[in-house]
Amino acid sequence: MAVRPILHYPDKRLRIPGKAVEAFDDELTALVDDMAETMYAAPGVGLAAPQIGVSLRLFVIDVATGPDEPSDLRVFVNPEIVERVGTVCYEEGCLSFPGIHEEVKRAERVAVRAQDAQGERFELEADGLLAIAIQHENDHLDGELMIDHLSLLRRRLVHRAMAKRFAKAAVS
Ligand code: NI
Repeated sequence: MAVRPILHYPDKRLRIPGKAVEAFDDELTALVDDMAETMYAAPGVGLAAPQIGVSLRLFVIDVATGPDEPSDLRVFVNPEIVERVGTVCYEEGCLSFPGIHEEVKRAERVAVRAQDAQGERFELEADGLLAIAIQHENDHLDGELMIDHLSLLRRRLVHRAMAKRFAKAAVS
């Protein structure tokens, strides 16, 4: 297991849509383990494969954020959101946008079909933070980012803040 570096916006690799996972093998298990470790180390509630430069349709989520809550790791491979109900606004963060928190409008409840790390199919209905995390991470698989959900003004401000940080990181 290893913590992998997380790509930060505006890294162009974040825009590459993920390909369907076809092989449920040891390599995939190792990737899932690395993604979980990377998410917990960050720390974050979700991480999608494109965020570590792996263009595959897969993400991990753990919304158990309390210090005494047992971990609740969920793995979604080849996910598909099949139903979206209601709307809700939530202040989201993203490990690819460190320090940025912005209100994003999402569906309040979702139904998702996916496979687990062994290829077993499952369907899940989610609400609350889990529903938001599923929609946020699923966007990453299409090369979509939280910035795409913002107003033009907020998008410009976030872009500028991140571009400045990116330029600084490149020279230091
Ligand atoms: Ni994100």
